Amino acid sequence: MLLEGKQLVGVDIGTSSIKVLQVRKSGKGYYLLKIGIEKLPPQSIVDGHVMNHGAVVDGLRKLFRDLKINQREVALSISGNSVIIKKLNLPLMKPDELEEQIQWEAEQHIPFDISEVELDYNILNENVDAGQMDVLLVASKKDEIQDIVEVVTEAKLKPYVVDIDAFAIQNVYELNYGYTSDEVIALLNIGAEVTTINIIADGISQFTRDISNGGNLITEEIQKQLQVSYEEAEAYKAGGSEDSNEVVPHEVDEIVSGVVDSLAGEIQRSLDFYVATSNRGEVQKIFVTGGTSNISALRTAIERRARVQVEMLDPFRRVQYDDKKFNSEVLKALAPQASICLGLALRKQKERI
Ligand SMILES: Nc1ncnc2c1ncn2[C@@H]1O[C@H](COP(=O)(O)OP(=O)(O)OP(=O)(O)O)[C@@H](O)[C@H]1O
Ligand SMILES: [Mg+2]
Repeated sequence: MLLEGKQLVGVDIGTSSIKVLQVRKSGKGYYLLKIGIEKLPPQSIVDGHVMNHGAVVDGLRKLFRDLKINQREVALSISGNSVIIKKLNLPLMKPDELEEQIQWEAEQHIPFDISEVELDYNILNENVDAGQMDVLLVASKKDEIQDIVEVVTEAKLKPYVVDIDAFAIQNVYELNYGYTSDEVIALLNIGAEVTTINIIADGISQFTRDISNGGNLITEEIQKQLQVSYEEAEAYKAGGSEDSNEVVPHEVDEIVSGVVDSLAGEIQRSLDFYVATSNRGEVQKIFVTGGTSNISALRTAIERRARVQVEMLDPFRRVQYDDKKFNSEVLKALAPQASICLGLALRKQKERI
């Protein structure tokens, strides 16, 4: 892939918060310039739709102002029910034939009206001997893309790229860990409302799925069972708030472990589905990121079911930064929530395949 133009500012508008991150290319790697996170009030984003425009626009403006970022060109992403990704095995064909075939395949495989989606595809590999190729088909709902483009434009930003969480996370993994051949790994981004799974073998995505579930489920259960506010439940979930001496009720652990077990079960069903439908064999290692991956009981529950090692992905493993400007402990605490945004900040203004 040929990359040209300016490095974009990564803007990840999640259900629970907005993350902004900026890097500069430095030799073969990247150098961290800016990073910031701004919480959003509950229900600002529901099922990929921006419900509270004002809150999102204010959050974006505040982040760019506080971080003193003058650059306006940004990369965004979408996830969840707004995106469908399918891997197709097709006979080798010419580009214009493929173009036509993709339309036909999309009508077969995409459960939405084709006029409502943006179609994109990418040839993953070509097997000349077998006369076959693998093609990745991506369909994104236009109205959900429009929604975030609109809100970002209102905040006086210029969106150049709309990526997909699953691919953003793959780029972050590639940057920080690279690939070893024959290795099958699963990348999980576990957020507030969405859990994104991307299984990769030999550097190529084999399977992706977004599960509409995440950390909010735990917060809601704590709220319901203990009759506390959203804010209190969030604080309990993260082990109590830092600026108070309040004690986390003993029931919290039990509630958390109940919900994480069902979330781990859902993740395992996707991993099982992948194994049943792929010829690449079992996943050998799982990397987790996203705010909810902070919960160690969840990592243990995934490990217990999948029977493979679960490791926290370090998005800054190969990213340089000035340790006078960034406190490494603060950065480490932010890391799980910063992964997607870093993946977006790696994008450039113009990309040609
Ligand atoms: N230390 C922690 N312990 C437990 N949970 C945490 C911790 N830090 C963050 N979370 C949870 O992580 C979630 C937010 O993660 P993240 O920022 O990755 O999600 P998001 O991008 O806002 O949402 P989504 O991607 O699902 O739309 C929230 O549910 C939050 O409560
Ligand atoms: Mg997210």
